[in-house]
Amino acid sequence: MKVEPLGKSQIEASIVGLGTYYFGGGDGSSAPDDKETIQIVHAALDEGISLIDTAPSYGFGHCEQVIGKAIKDRRDKAVVATKCGLWWQDERGSPNGEKDGRDQYISLRPDTIKIEVENSLRNLKTDYIDLLQVHKPAIPPDDTPIEDTMRCLMELKQQGKIRAIGISNVTVDQLATYDAHGDLSSNQFRYSMLHNNPEADILPYCIENEIASITYMSLEQGLLTGKINLERQFDKNDWRSNAGQWLPWFKKENLERLLNMFSQWEDLLDEYHCSIAQLTVAWTAAQPGISHILCGAKSVSQIVNNANSGSIALSEGEINRMSNDIKNLGEPG
Ligand SMILES: NC(=O)c1ccc[n+]([C@@H]2O[C@H](COP(=O)([O-])OP(=O)(O)OC[C@H]3O[C@@H](n4cnc5c(N)ncnc54)[C@H](OP(=O)(O)O)[C@@H]3O)[C@@H](O)[C@H]2O)c1
Repeated sequence: MKVEPLGKSQIEASIVGLGTYYFGGGDGSSAPDDKETIQIVHAALDEGISLIDTAPSYGFGHCEQVIGKAIKDRRDKAVVATKCGLWWQDERGSPNGEKDGRDQYISLRPDTIKIEVENSLRNLKTDYIDLLQVHKPAIPPDDTPIEDTMRCLMELKQQGKIRAIGISNVTVDQLATYDAHGDLSSNQFRYSMLHNNPEADILPYCIENEIASITYMSLEQGLLTGKINLERQFDKNDWRSNAGQWLPWFKKENLERLLNMFSQWEDLLDEYHCSIAQLTVAWTAAQPGISHILCGAKSVSQIVNNANSGSIALSEGEINRMSNDIKNLGEPG
């Protein structure tokens, strides 16, 4: 497994990261139970995946607690990336809708961030967080200036409670402002074969300023693993049963075009003895500026499969050919 630094920090993390959103439960998801979650985390570490991405909001602390149990005796093998800014303990911050029956707020106030960090340290059973990421930028009316949030994060870094600072879901202007006010190491955003908007401005900024780019939903919720065929029915509790509304590539007519594209890559699957999921991760890793790719996994076999993509080195010709096919796919209807 290759490793890449988290920006200018001295921390190196595996290029394939374990995404843990579903370990928190919620969203009516078919999440693994805690025992299986621990097995998935152990399998990830065994396969050389050090980067583990979580958040207090994943299951309101539950996801962090299970990860804490899983890494208890292997803390040195893990680069734990958690987040701050999604708040539900009281009404501080700005309303951000309801999640799993609780009112949620976005709060990047120093007072709530400090409480969140103490909670995360306790949940994760650790005395340091490798990477603390601002989950989402502040919104009105309680939109804490970026300068104040960064001052708080720098203080936490000086105290040794966190080792590096990251952000997520920001515009390029917000990215530059965070970067101007402290030691910014990483930026997390959605990026995949089907969602490449960050190439316009976010990625060039990260490259130029040595900020690690951590991508999420690079497997497009399973679509880019090739396993979702035209006959696939999702459980009624699985939000993907109705995903066409939000993710148009799930619509049958678009999915058919995607599956046709995959069928043109059979020779690559043979050459690298790999799956579409692995080819997807390898292509994503080869894109300029992408340093780390988070892959959600609901089983040991999925995370082992995703981890093994870290060793596939596509040739320049193969990368260009795949990029061309993706371009020719066009927009979903
Ligand atoms: N910063 C943010 O705001 C933000 C937002 C979203 C996500 N994230 C982070 O990014 C991570 C990744 O995103 P994600 O989990 O939402 O989506 P994802 O990685 O695009 O998709 C993960 C899903 O794909 C399927 N899958 C994964 N590996 C597979 C394999 N090898 N073969 C077949 N199927 C496979 C599994 O679902 P099934 O088995 O059910 O099909 C899995 O739950 C999250 O877990 C979270 O840590 C951050």
